[in-house]
Amino acid sequence: MITGKYPSLRLRRSRKYAWSRRLVQENSLSYSDLILPIFLIEGKNKKESIKSMPNIFRYSIDKLSSVVGKAIKKGIPMVALFPYTNTKKKDEYGSEALNPDNLICRGIKFIKKKYKNKIGIMCDVALDPYTSHGHDGLLKKGNILNDETLDILTKQAVLQAKMGCDVIAPSDMMDGRIGKIRKALDKNNLNDVQILSYAVKFSSSFYGPFRDAVGSKKLLKGDKKTYQMDFRNSDESLREVSLDVKEGTDMIMVKPGMPYLDIIKKVKDKFKIPVLAYQVSGEYSLIMSGINKKILDKASIKETLISFKRAGASSIVTYFADQIDL
Ligand code: PBG
Repeated sequence: MITGKYPSLRLRRSRKYAWSRRLVQENSLSYSDLILPIFLIEGKNKKESIKSMPNIFRYSIDKLSSVVGKAIKKGIPMVALFPYTNTKKKDEYGSEALNPDNLICRGIKFIKKKYKNKIGIMCDVALDPYTSHGHDGLLKKGNILNDETLDILTKQAVLQAKMGCDVIAPSDMMDGRIGKIRKALDKNNLNDVQILSYAVKFSSSFYGPFRDAVGSKKLLKGDKKTYQMDFRNSDESLREVSLDVKEGTDMIMVKPGMPYLDIIKKVKDKFKIPVLAYQVSGEYSLIMSGINKKILDKASIKETLISFKRAGASSIVTYFADQIDL
């Protein structure tokens, strides 16, 4: 592939001026590439800070306009909603997930009523914000039940879609959920609702601040290693993706982000399907602490986001989405 040699070939030539660097740049970043996660909380007129995530807040529904309106103005195509559920409402089955009047359902309705289809809404399908044990599925004698959990997740997905959710995002890592959810959506005339499968979700230490944000951290019994992937594995991610592609997913999420750029590339090369990256809460907090301590420059944020594009991601879920200037 080398087309010449020094001294006639000098790669620095094209780097000399800003215009020239722009001319040959291989990747770019715009607001269209970003998805903004938003945490919801009960109450009125609340914008509550989250200790482990500087500059990130939990919003009561009546305060959602401030953050969603800003996202629309910037051209961010989609928000991802996550609920902070009162401990009182949590039980071992995660029943609140199926309450048509839960925070997520009210959040979806509020945004759709006010903004119509000016912005997409994506919602997690998983039980962890609702269970008293903090797991994504049903827990019985120390085991997370797969097939029993599927029934609830399918109902949760259909409920969210009926409320107006555009993109159903199962992040639970149960086997077989994509096929079941697709079937149930279609049966309910929700054929146009998309599925974004968190097909490759690693059991990671980088989710800590998020669990704090949704209030599941202190409750979590044990770890999620029996359902989320072992981060030592790479080929296994292709097996996960191939199953979900066959079951009908529209897009694939790789999560966490930066430590898994190799996986994004591998999935993209192999499946030619939209691959999204999730720059998770631990990554966010890590970068933020560097910036707050002035060890890192603000430009470091863009550098991390471009790395996802370079690896092949179509877009990136990031808590920086509405904080950076592009
Ligand atoms: C729950 C869920 C998690 C995240 C998104 N959905 C945490 C977990 O699996 O424990 C993490 C997001 C982040 O850390 O930013 N299914």
